[in-house]
Amino acid sequence: MRIGIASDHGGFRLKSDLLGMLRDRAGLEIEDLGTHSEASTDYPDYAHRLATLILQGELDRGILVCGTGIGMSIAANRHAGIRCVVCSDTYTAKLSREHNDTNILALGERVVGKGLAWDIVTAWLDAATDMDARHARRREKIEI
Ligand code: RB5
Repeated sequence: MRIGIASDHGGFRLKSDLLGMLRDRAGLEIEDLGTHSEASTDYPDYAHRLATLILQGELDRGILVCGTGIGMSIAANRHAGIRCVVCSDTYTAKLSREHNDTNILALGERVVGKGLAWDIVTAWLDAATDMDARHARRREKIEI
């Protein structure tokens, strides 16, 4: 699975922690889309870049980190075909994959610690999309 990961300055430290853990996990091809320091940046730039690469088929899924995860998720969800969930618990992460087929996970460095963030990431990576007809129909109705 090709996974892109990006953050603004507010998520830089958590992104760096997650990068190390993702690279140690088998079966993933990881692309770090920045930012590369704690210098101030604008989160939409990173969300739009990651969303575009997923929609172009260059990446399968992605992870965005900012201070809260909110700005990243709002920006990513402006793209038709992107289903981004901002998560601070593992249950939401898992269900967002099963029912909603989320293709981007957003996290907040000021909200979740490194340990919980990794549990959320692994719950999200491990969960499969539920192909039941009712869920598929609802997912299709998301796009307008
Ligand atoms: C940056 O200060 C902060 O606003 C950003 O990281 C994010 O939390 C926005 O939603």
